[in-house]
Amino acid sequence: MISNASNRPLSLVKLAHQLVAEHVKPGDIVIDATVGNGHDTTFLLDLVLPDGHVFGFDIQQTAIDQANRRLAAQMSNSCLTLFRADHAAMRATIPLIYHGRIGMVMFNLGYLPGSVKHIKTQSKSTLAALAAAADLISLGGLITVVAYPGHDGGGDETRDVDQWRLGLDTGQYRTALFENHPDNPSAPKLFSVCKIG
Ligand SMILES: C[S@@+](CC[C@H](N)C(=O)[O-])C[C@H]1O[C@@H](n2cnc3c(N)ncnc32)[C@H](O)[C@@H]1O
Repeated sequence: MISNASNRPLSLVKLAHQLVAEHVKPGDIVIDATVGNGHDTTFLLDLVLPDGHVFGFDIQQTAIDQANRRLAAQMSNSCLTLFRADHAAMRATIPLIYHGRIGMVMFNLGYLPGSVKHIKTQSKSTLAALAAAADLISLGGLITVVAYPGHDGGGDETRDVDQWRLGLDTGQYRTALFENHPDNPSAPKLFSVCKIG
């Protein structure tokens, strides 16, 4: 069990935020691969301001609109670019000057909370986006993935992400798996990938 200072279980989203906060600093260029309601995007913006930039992807206009509303107060200095686009197109969408300079890419898989459940991340595009993210991050750069095997299709996607990270060149990437309930196949999992060489 991963716990906080008061010995209470730490959600994997919170743990992902902890890992990200240790990596990302003001001025960094980072990517939120699944903007959703914009909570992670807000968190990333707070870390990179005032000189950094957050690029965000979501396939749903609702998500982009909600995130824009949430972030309106922080957007005055053009530190945010949201794409209504599939994160599988990340490599082609992120301006070339930032390739190899991205400090971190954050994935929170699944569907938009409070919205329809059939629009959700899928293995094929998730794996394409992860491959692009692994290329785009800088040396020392980080990828985090919170995956939810408990929903329909989520089990296969979670297994595919795990296999992908286990297949990475260990001379180039250090990876880890965090889970609060290893005996429960439906419990969420957090994967981290750090570029080391
Ligand atoms: C669990 S939510 C993300 C939560 C979000 N990070 C937050 O802080 O609120 C997953 C999001 O991924 C989006 N999504 C699904 N497939 C996608 C894809 N191929 N490319 C980009 N976003 C996708 C969904 O529309 C949904 O908004």
